[in-house]
Amino acid sequence: LIEHKVDSLLSLMTLEEKIGQMTQFSGHGTLTGPQINDDFKQYLEKGLVGSMFNVFGSDGLIKLQKQAMEHSRLHIPILFAADVIHGYETTFPIPLAESCSWDLDLMRRSARISAIEATAAGISWTFAPMVDIARDPRWGRALEGAGEDVFLSTKVAVARVQGFQGIDSYKDFTKNNTMLACTKHFAAYGAALAGRDYNSVDISDRTLRDTYLPPFQATVDAGVATFMTAFNTLNGVPSTGNKYLFSDILRGEWDFRGAVVTDYTAINEMIPHGFAKDLKQASELAVNAGIDMDMNGAAFIQNLKKLVEEGKVKESTIDNATARILELKFMLGLFDDPYKYMNQEREDALLSAPEHLEEALKNAERSIVLLKNDKELLPLKTSKRKRVALIGPMIKERNSLNGEWAIKGKREESVTLFEGLTNKYKNSSVTFQYAKGASLMGDAKSSEIREAVRLANKSDVLLVALGEEYNWSGEAASRSDITLPKAQKELLKALKKTGKPIVLVLLNGRPLDLSWEDENVTAIVEVWYPGTRAGDAVANVISGTYNPSAKLTMTFPRNIGQVPIYYNALNTGRPFDQNNPQDYKSFYLDVANTPLYPFGYGLSYSKFNYSNLKLSTDKLSKGETITASIDVKNVSNVDGEEIVQLYLQDVFASVAQPVKNLKGFKKIALKKGETKTVTFKITEELLKIIDIDSNYKAEPGDFNLWIGKSSNDSEQQTKFTYSL
Ligand code: IFM
Repeated sequence: LIEHKVDSLLSLMTLEEKIGQMTQFSGHGTLTGPQINDDFKQYLEKGLVGSMFNVFGSDGLIKLQKQAMEHSRLHIPILFAADVIHGYETTFPIPLAESCSWDLDLMRRSARISAIEATAAGISWTFAPMVDIARDPRWGRALEGAGEDVFLSTKVAVARVQGFQGIDSYKDFTKNNTMLACTKHFAAYGAALAGRDYNSVDISDRTLRDTYLPPFQATVDAGVATFMTAFNTLNGVPSTGNKYLFSDILRGEWDFRGAVVTDYTAINEMIPHGFAKDLKQASELAVNAGIDMDMNGAAFIQNLKKLVEEGKVKESTIDNATARILELKFMLGLFDDPYKYMNQEREDALLSAPEHLEEALKNAERSIVLLKNDKELLPLKTSKRKRVALIGPMIKERNSLNGEWAIKGKREESVTLFEGLTNKYKNSSVTFQYAKGASLMGDAKSSEIREAVRLANKSDVLLVALGEEYNWSGEAASRSDITLPKAQKELLKALKKTGKPIVLVLLNGRPLDLSWEDENVTAIVEVWYPGTRAGDAVANVISGTYNPSAKLTMTFPRNIGQVPIYYNALNTGRPFDQNNPQDYKSFYLDVANTPLYPFGYGLSYSKFNYSNLKLSTDKLSKGETITASIDVKNVSNVDGEEIVQLYLQDVFASVAQPVKNLKGFKKIALKKGETKTVTFKITEELLKIIDIDSNYKAEPGDFNLWIGKSSNDSEQQTKFTYSL
């Protein structure tokens, strides 16, 4: 039915009007590049804009929509978009943090709430989820994905699409609180050379398909409505002009039927890339590669008509692109009610609704990773440690708590660590005193450090909150040095000299080099950027009201020289054995091969014991299943949650395979003393690889299997054989 409506509308449209639908302009909100066109209003009235982003608020959007509806010839509604990445007004932890919960329902819920708020405020298209695999902590946009692993990232990508779209079929947008999701950035944006944002990507087709594409494909299967191009070149070809990616793979192999939007001015950027001589040629390359909408580049609107007249672009290509965009608008019901998503009353009622703030707290607690906890310093018991010094620039910092891409999050309302902690301990015998000690950025001031040291000397324990100012992670926020900023490090070193126990609380958007900190402080809590309820969540973890359960989804290196470092690397022909070091093996002279904190690692206030790994059979035949089981016991006095992880290794294959790959995980709750048997089903599907002839299939042979606490836990190991 929608197809007929689209066809009949298309038949009424002029070529300019069709190209107008393929044009998206930005308002004056968050600009992440040049503002190409300031006068979008005249285009709106002429029916020459398909979509707008960076414009906010029901009332304002109603005015813009009216302009299009009342003045344009065909009264085609505008599709309003925004980067609703980790919340709209209620801000959840940054996506990388949230992925550390390994809790897919939690992530589905935060995307759902983000959609509920955004759609009440007029936005029906989000530029999320970002599903780029990130193996390089220098890359600031690692904060927006789900880390380094393909298996986990694929599941998270699907959960987020479901949360935004609210459904499992992409053609059902009848509700007024579901929105179009957009899988980005196609493709391999996270593989930017040296971790510098927008940099070139040069990877083999095998790596592209093994590592970078699976999360994208999974969202197509889950019914995602739209895709976004990436800024980078992939093996010399900019994504935005890349036929192989968009025509061959996305639409050809995966049968994607939705629309593709460029990233911000990405068509224009094909000129400095050295791929197009001018904007006209860039537009030709983009549209012929399969791109439907030009984000803020004004490239299509200026060039496509001429290109059609010259025969360089077929009118049918324009028709198809326009049809895909109109289809989205019909699906959303915008032709029936162009104001469907704009309702000031609903906006007032739903933004920062109490139940959303409650969920933001839960989410933040579950995203916090306990990295170190010597002598069980945490949780901070009120009976033992009475005088607590709160030191560091992050203690009272508010602006950074939401992290990057907190689109309408009210930074001024996020709960600081100081507020959260003082509130939590208000009726206890604990007393807090505060010293800033250093600024987030800039040089150390000896007077500030002295004051902090004085306070430290009079205290029983130091809670030191440090990290990166929020715009040090995110788009265009790459770092070549991933240690703590200099002044903060100096502060920490001075505090160490007092000999007092230190709890280091970290707010940052990427894995950091914490080698010095790991050696020198007693406890480390990675809280990332936790969002609106930051301080409350941190206080709940510090006090033990919430027992931390998150585990890293990205490796923390020992130093920057180890990067890229990720758990599922290939072996070498000369693997290094730490227990039997030998020369002429693959190792560094100056640092271990192992990371500081591996993928899947994270502590709890509980202690878990794994035993009794069993397989129902050690021979798997085609079409059959092995059940792997393990007993996990909470051997501590505290109730807790554990993320149990299954890893497999294809021991030899037609193409060398990683030393291990995550193939399953379960998050379980265990009361103190309780044991649960956790099971995983192993089928041929889990064993499939892209073989030497590019077939996706399982190869007969031996497989190693581990079930454990993290990617480097090899205590519980067994093996099985697969045969056809
Ligand atoms: O959605 C983003 C994209 O991820 C990076 N460039 C800007 C876009 C729109 O804000």
